[in-house]
This record gives sequence, structure tokens and C-alpha cells, in this order.
Amino acid sequence: MHIVRSLVSGPLDADAPGGVRTIANPARLDEIVSEAHLGNAETFLQACRVAKGAQPAWSSVPAPVRGRTIQQLGRLVEDNAEALARLITQEIGKPFKESRGEVQEVIDTCSFFLGEGRRLYGMTVPSEMPDKQLFTFRTPVGVAAIITAGNFPVAVPSWYVVPALLCGNAVVWKPAEYTPAIAEAFAQLILHAGLPTGTFQMVLADGPETFAGLERALDEGVVDKVGFTGSTAVGERLGELCGRHLQTPCLELGGKNPLVVMPDADLDLAVEGALFSGFGTAGQRCTSLGTAIVHRDVHEDFVDRFTKAVAEAPIGDPNRDVLYGPMIDERFAVRFEDWLGLIRDHHHVHGSSAVGRITRTARREGFVGDDPEAGFFYHPTIVDGVRAEDDLYRIETFGPIVGVASFDTFDEAIALANGHGYGLSSSIYTTDPLHAFRFRERVSAGMVSVNNSTSGAEAHLPFGGNGRSGNGSRQSGVWVLDQFTRWQAMNWDYSGHLQKAQMDVADVAADLSYRLPE
Ligand code: UN1
Repeated sequence: MHIVRSLVSGPLDADAPGGVRTIANPARLDEIVSEAHLGNAETFLQACRVAKGAQPAWSSVPAPVRGRTIQQLGRLVEDNAEALARLITQEIGKPFKESRGEVQEVIDTCSFFLGEGRRLYGMTVPSEMPDKQLFTFRTPVGVAAIITAGNFPVAVPSWYVVPALLCGNAVVWKPAEYTPAIAEAFAQLILHAGLPTGTFQMVLADGPETFAGLERALDEGVVDKVGFTGSTAVGERLGELCGRHLQTPCLELGGKNPLVVMPDADLDLAVEGALFSGFGTAGQRCTSLGTAIVHRDVHEDFVDRFTKAVAEAPIGDPNRDVLYGPMIDERFAVRFEDWLGLIRDHHHVHGSSAVGRITRTARREGFVGDDPEAGFFYHPTIVDGVRAEDDLYRIETFGPIVGVASFDTFDEAIALANGHGYGLSSSIYTTDPLHAFRFRERVSAGMVSVNNSTSGAEAHLPFGGNGRSGNGSRQSGVWVLDQFTRWQAMNWDYSGHLQKAQMDVADVAADLSYRLPE
């Protein structure tokens, strides 16, 4: 069993001021994986103070050398990939292949940003006056407080931590309380990559204590940037809090991601995409499919094929070859049961032999494993007949449930794709380029797939959403650099006298009365 405490430089006042929580393997509840000794608001504040003290020295390390640290982190993660992936599967029940993919996403992120240390370009810009030069520089923001969910317990944190460090910021990371062993493992890899003491801290604490600590840290001026991946409701509160300090957080929130199936689509491909988007990771990705929006001409055919694919999908032991394993934590299982209550009489339910938890009586044909009651396993549920006025259409349901709606015209499809107010990911299945580009133009999502799943974004494209999915910030690739640096403009006048901008600028003597001969 892993006993995990916050990793903060300097002595901590108490061992577990926020209490102790034990974490069971969600696929085998009798196996205790870890014990989290939680900190509190004070722990969080202390970590931010230490980070604030350490940040100037780290920012004066040349960016290519900071890039080298990121390179070493990537190597460490690669050399420990199997162990880290095993821990992910053990602590949150993610199928091993997906866990390994998630670790790969961390390695890819390091591979991208290690080179950014040698780029981190500014510009030389011409001045409007002679003997004067203009420049732009990227400067680090300061201390980044990163608060992340547990469904991607290392990949999503790496999207923040890696570029934040590379850009010269110090980082305080607050992982999900239900992934302490994974957090400890990833934090140790980060700490072994060659960072100066205090540059990176990991704080284990629950949501309310973290919020209280963050409030105090912002008041004290020891946090300069907040990055948060989690629910829309918490994102709104963090946005308000940061706004009071004139800060713009990087918010990556929920989704109700649509997958539109046009009548000209390759239906088998669409079904394959819907199966993975909707039920991969047991639907616990922010990019998971919410509602399949299917043209009336192919609706019945799509639902039949989708139902067959879902009914035959292997579900169970995440160490074996399954589409999905258990819910990642009890709280997600409990919340999922609530969301099943959004199914109404006019809906038609397909995909499994029962709805809700898989038990010895509510059996799942072909369940992979000995005893479904050993973990938080849930039946996959397709809900056909979803309409725009349904709660199921509007509310994000983090779990193995997918709605199916119908449309007749392209305008109706777009209205359904956007009408819930989220705007994270989206997908269209079509063989007509016109539909693909029209969809891209009109869908409100930050990410658009054509003939591909709503999930599975690559690590170097901008990731993020609009509307209820976020505040427009983007992670990953070069785009995230704007989250963790600020532009500084510099001008240098070497003419030896004061040249006033706009006033001392030479004009051009043009003859504007000139006309071409008729
Ligand atoms: C999330 O669920 O918060 O695009 C992130 C994907 C993954 C990341 C999901 N690469 O599905």
C-alpha cells in the first residue's frame, strides 16, 4: 500500500490536517491501493509561498537548460512507463492499454516542449524611427497553481506542468484526492528530473481546502496563474475568484460532445467512432461522446449497428482486453446512478441486458472477470429518442451513457450540436467535404473531428473549449505558451536624442492627385 503525503519543500506543520483517505482499486474494492494523508488550506498556502520564493532563480536558468530538464523528465517517464501505467490501472481502473497511452501522452508532451526551450521566440520589430529597435520577449508569469481531475491523472497534469516549468514558472500541483499513488509517482519523476528545490510542489487536499488555500494565496500575491481541469461549476467559481485578482485562469471544463452522422456517412466507421468516444474510459473523458445526432434516413440502421457493437463489447477487468473497466472512483459511480435518472418514458434504452451497476443478478453477457460486484462496473447504456428539451441532452453525464437524437436538415444538426451550451469537442461522419467544412465553420466546439472519435486529441494541437467548456484558453502545442508567459515589449533608442513616437516620424511626400490617363 502507498502512503502518500504532500510533497512540499520544508517541514509541514501536521501529518494529515485534512484527514486520511484510503483508496481502493475500483475494479477490486477489497484491494487498498493507497492512503492519502491530506493537507489543508494552510498546506496549500505554504506550498505557494515556497514556490514564490523559488521562482526567480528558476526563471533565470536559460530556457534551453530548462528544456533539458523537460527532456530528462521525458526520459524518466519513458523508462518508468510500464510501472506508471500499471499504477494508473490499479488506482483508477483504466484499461492498461489506455493507461499506457496516457503515459505516452506525457512523453509526447515532454518531447514537444524540450525543443521549445530552444525556441521560446520573441520578435525583433522595426521601429517607425531611425536608430531605434523594438523587441518582444516572453516572460514567465510566476507561480502556477494547477488543479486537475483524476480521469487523466498524469497526461492532463503534464499539459500544464511541463510548459509551465519550461517557461520559467514555479508550480504547485493539486491532483485529485482519489489518485494519490499516481500523483506521488508522477511528482517523484518530476522532482528527479533536475529541478531546483521549491520549483515544484505537490499538495494533496480536498476541493474546499484547496479553494480556501488558493483564496489566501491569491490575497497574498503568491499565485499568479491558475490552471484547472474539472467541472463547469467549480470552473465558474475559480473564474470569479481569479477575476477579483485580475487574473485569467486556464479553464478546461466539461463537455456534451456531439457526433453528427450524415446520410452519406460510412455507418460502420461512425459506429466504431461512437463506440470508442462514448464508452472508452467508461465515458469518463471530458471529450467523451454525449449525443449522437443521426440523420433520420440512417437513424434506425445506425442504432441497430451501434446497439449490436455495444452489446458485444467486452467490459470488465482493466488488466485484460476490454472496452472499459470500472468507474474511476466511488463518487463517479454514485453520480452516474443519478444521471441514469434522466432517462424518460419517451426514450428507448439499448446496449446491455440491464441498466445501472453490473451485479450477479443484473448480469452483463460476456463480462470479463470473475465477479462484477468486486468493483464499480456499470452497464453501457444507449438512450435513443433524445430531444433538445431533455435533461439528458443538456447535462454532462460522466459515464457509460450515450444519447441518440435525429435530424432532417443540416441546420437542425448544427442546432443540436451547439444547443446545450458546451463547446469542447465534436465530430462529424460524412463523405462530403462540403458538410465537413460547413460543420467546422458552424459548430461552437474548440475541437472538431471528421470521421473520427470526439476523444483522442493529439498532444500538440490546441486543446480547449468554449461556452460552458471553458473560457477560451487553450492547452498544448505552442498555443499554451500564452498561458504561462506574458509578452513584454521593449524599445531601444540609440539615436542619442529623444524621438517621440507618432510625432517625430518622417512622412512620405506622395502626389495623391495623380490619376492614370483615361
Ligand atoms: C480529459 O478528459 O480531460 O482527447 C482530457 C482525449 C485525451 C484527453 C482527455 N487525450 O480524449
